[in-house]
Amino acid sequence: MANNRSSYRMSAFSVTVFTQLLVVSIAALVLYWLIKLREGVAFTSNIKIMIFNLHPLLTVLGFIIFSGEAIITYKGIPMTRPTLKLIHLILHLIALFAGILGICAVFKFHNELKTAHAYTLHSRIGLSTICLFGLQLLLGFVTFLFPGAMSATRARFSPWHIFTGVVIFFMAIVTAETGLIEVFIYQKLHKGQEALVVNFIGLLILIFGICVGLIVVLPLKRK
Ligand code: HEM
Repeated sequence: MANNRSSYRMSAFSVTVFTQLLVVSIAALVLYWLIKLREGVAFTSNIKIMIFNLHPLLTVLGFIIFSGEAIITYKGIPMTRPTLKLIHLILHLIALFAGILGICAVFKFHNELKTAHAYTLHSRIGLSTICLFGLQLLLGFVTFLFPGAMSATRARFSPWHIFTGVVIFFMAIVTAETGLIEVFIYQKLHKGQEALVVNFIGLLILIFGICVGLIVVLPLKRK
């Protein structure tokens, strides 16, 4: 595996730096979109769309960005393994918390408008993603942290933990893309500044996903 990885002839470092620039750009664009071009965000308001706006805010800036950062922890920060494990866990917990809160916001929005729940492809992939994410976190915790499995079991489980982690992360990317398409259609955006911003957010999220995937396969240092 190490030899295969070194044949990429580049290290994860440069892609990690580029990924952090993407994170800043996505955060800036999402905030600009929701605060400047739309009504802003609130958990309780008479302007119901403000409650909905919490949903993209928390799912993109919380769930997607933090879970991406959690995945690349091992390649990005030069620290000891136990510290990295802890950072990996904390970033995932923040992502899960933000994701659940983001879903609560859209459920609240639907409840207040008295509309049906979870009937779209977006919502179904989204719910499956959050459930699998929670399960992956639980399995990772009991295997690698507490009580922790035998080292042979951990070694056998590790590649599957990485594979399923990347799959769930890409499910989150697909969910965000389908969510952005829904907004584009519901808001009848077609052209104009907001259409451009929403499409650009989608594009940057896709590139962010690709970069995280690349960092996972690249070696820490170039051979
Ligand atoms: C990984 C991130 C995301 C997850 C896990 C997720 C999950 C969900 C879930 C479970 C629902 C259904 C709520 C209900 O039935 O009451 C929903 C609704 C919705 N979401 Fe997301 N979402 C995510 C990101 C986004 C993004 C980035 C947008 C874009 C603005 C978005 C737009 C929408 C819209 C328009 C609805 C209402 C229509 C529907 O139920 O499909 N979502 N989302």
